[in-house]
Amino acid sequence: MPERRGGRRPPVFFNPRMKLNRDVTCAVVRAVRESEGEVGFLDLLAGSGAKGLRVAREAGARVHLNDASSEAVAAIRENARRNRMATKVTITGKNANLLLQEVHRDFEFIDIDPFGTPVPFLDNALMSVKTGGYLGVTATDTAPLCGVYPKSCYRKYGAIPLRSEFCHEVGLRILVGYVARAAARYARSIRCVLSHSSDHYFRAFVRVGNGKERAKACLEKLGYVYYCRRCLAHSHERGFFPSRRTCRCGRRMETAGPLWLGGIKEAGFARAVLREAEYIGSRRLVRLMETIAGELAEPFYYDTHRLAKLEGVEVRSMEEIIRALSGYRVSRTHFNPVAIKTDAPLEAVKRALI
Ligand SMILES: C[S@@+](CC[C@H](N)C(=O)[O-])C[C@H]1O[C@@H](n2cnc3c(N)ncnc32)[C@H](O)[C@@H]1O
Ligand SMILES: [Zn+2]
Repeated sequence: MPERRGGRRPPVFFNPRMKLNRDVTCAVVRAVRESEGEVGFLDLLAGSGAKGLRVAREAGARVHLNDASSEAVAAIRENARRNRMATKVTITGKNANLLLQEVHRDFEFIDIDPFGTPVPFLDNALMSVKTGGYLGVTATDTAPLCGVYPKSCYRKYGAIPLRSEFCHEVGLRILVGYVARAAARYARSIRCVLSHSSDHYFRAFVRVGNGKERAKACLEKLGYVYYCRRCLAHSHERGFFPSRRTCRCGRRMETAGPLWLGGIKEAGFARAVLREAEYIGSRRLVRLMETIAGELAEPFYYDTHRLAKLEGVEVRSMEEIIRALSGYRVSRTHFNPVAIKTDAPLEAVKRALI
C-alpha cells in the first residue's frame, strides 16, 4: 500500500511526516513474523489507521485498530474499505487503557503512537503484551526529553535530561530507561531490539520478558551520563545513584539520568529488519537501517563540527576523521550525520579532526 501525497485530502490525523515511522514498523513486524511466525498487532492509537492497515497488508499480521475518537474510527473504516481490508481487520473505538486490560496477553505486538508522550499507556501495555512480545513506542515530546523543558521531562519520566550536542541519544535513553522501570514494577523485563531518533520523534522497539530476576538485571542497566560544557567531554556509569564528577579540565560535570545504558539495538535484529527494508522499498528506510546496523554499541557520540568549532579548526571530512581513528573502534551514527561513536578518548578524537 504505497503512501501517496496529493489526491483527496487526507483526514486530519494522517501525518505524511510519519511515513518513515510506518515504514520501519512494517519492516520490524515482517522481521518478527519471519523469525517467530504469526503476529497479532494492536494499533492502539490508530488515528487514520494508516499504520495498522499497512502492517496488515505488508507484514501479513492479524491487526486490531483502535482509537477513542469517533472521527478517527470513521476514517479507519473508510480507509479499510478503500483498501479492501474491511473484513480482514478488527476496528474499535475504545479508551486505550481499558482496551489493553480487555485484551490481556492477546497480542504479540502493541504499537503506541500518541500525540506527545507514551507514558499514560505504558503501564497497561507492558502488563497486556504477551510474554516474549514487543512494544513499539513513539514519543514526540522531544523538547522535554532533549532538555529544552527539563521540569516537564522530570515530571513525566522522573529523569533529568541534558541540553547538549548528543541530547537526542540522551532523550531516547531516558525513554527506554523509563520503559524498563515501568516494566520492572510488574516483574517484567525489556530488551531494546531497535530504536531510532528521526525528524521530531523517538521510536523504541522493546521485547518484553517475565520474571523478577530479569527485571532486576534490567534495572542494573540504568545509570547516568556526565558532561563537561567547556571541553565537551562525556562519560557514563551504571548505578542507582549519580556521582559528582569533575572533568579533567577542572570544571564540574553536569549529570543527566537515570537513563538506559544497555543496548538500544541488537545487531541480529537490525540486520533482519534491514533485509525486510528492501521489500518495503523506501530508500530513506534502507539508509536508516544500514546506518543503525553499522553503529557501535558505545553510548553517546562526538559531534565533529561542534568539536572543530571549539578547537578553532577547519573540519575534515567524516571519511578522513574515521581513517585517522583507525586504531580505535569507530562508526557513524544515525543520530547525527556529522557525529561519530567511538571508544577513543576525547583527546584522540580532537587530534583526528586536523
Ligand atoms: C498521533 S495519532 C496516531 C497516528 C497514527 N498512528 C498514524 O500513523 O497515522 C494519536 C491518536 O490517539 C488517539 N487517542 C488519544 N488518547 C486516546 C485514548 N486514551 N484512547 C484511545 N485513543 C486515544 C487520538 O484520537 C489520535 O487519533
Ligand atoms: Zn572539561
